[in-house]
Amino acid sequence: MAFWPKKKNRDRPQVCNPEASPYAVFDRVGLEIGGKTILEDLTLSLDEARIGVVGLNGSGKSSFVRMLNGLRAPTGGTLTLYGAPAAEAELELPRHVGFVFQNPDHQAIFPTVEEEIAFGLTQLGASKDDSRSRARSFLALHGVEALAGKPVTELSEGQKQLVCILAVLVMEPKLLVLDEPMTSLDTLVTRRIRDKILSLPQKIVMVSHDLEHFDGFDRLIWLEDGRLRMDGEPDAVRAAYRQDIDLRLGRNPEFAGL
Ligand SMILES: Nc1ncnc2c1ncn2[C@@H]1O[C@H](COP(=O)(O)OP(=O)(O)O)[C@@H](O)[C@H]1O
Ligand SMILES: [Mg+2]
Repeated sequence: MAFWPKKKNRDRPQVCNPEASPYAVFDRVGLEIGGKTILEDLTLSLDEARIGVVGLNGSGKSSFVRMLNGLRAPTGGTLTLYGAPAAEAELELPRHVGFVFQNPDHQAIFPTVEEEIAFGLTQLGASKDDSRSRARSFLALHGVEALAGKPVTELSEGQKQLVCILAVLVMEPKLLVLDEPMTSLDTLVTRRIRDKILSLPQKIVMVSHDLEHFDGFDRLIWLEDGRLRMDGEPDAVRAAYRQDIDLRLGRNPEFAGL
């Protein structure tokens, strides 16, 4: 499923440049909700092919990545997406940025897999019949044509998550944002989904708590209390993050810090 502008908005002049490099520029970006500071003073540019985001629960990871497809708007600073101010880019973002949620049940809304995949194509202007047949071909291309007529609700968690990823990929986004996509999957399915993600031509921004998921990534961003704690080469950030967890455990071995 994608959040898509109404048809009349599709004919507006395009403000996004899909080839913009970097594709996202955060300049002192902040986010406040109901007087609470969620993100603060984020200054960074995103351009690498594989970017990971890590941090403890509540550190602002989801809020941060949601800004990349307009699900969250900054309340401070300047955010530029695909060369345009975020507020102006918002209507075009679903075309360029696919978003996969942690829980596929929050994303899948159509009765069958084929319809779920076809929806994105109709949003891009394809006819209903054409969308359905292209959806079937797309499922076949990814080796899961047998799922086409199945109700999404009857799929395994891994199949559901794969369908959600394919539903976004069928629109050929430039960037795929995944917010803890493998949290409810077993080890085998996690490996399969991870291999699938790594094989994609799209740029990737992925949130995960499993530091191994960032093997092969170009960059890892560590958020803490809504601020940038560290940003760099994944091995260096992972080592520092692990050390910080050890320190917290040493300081606070009981459950007060959950
Ligand atoms: N809609 C909202 N209203 C109020 N607070 C929110 C809202 N969304 C997130 N928060 C708060 O913002 C903080 C960061 O949340 P989130 O971005 O989901 O972090 P993470 O994904 O790292 O767990 C948390 O303290 C959370 O409670
Ligand atoms: Mg989150």
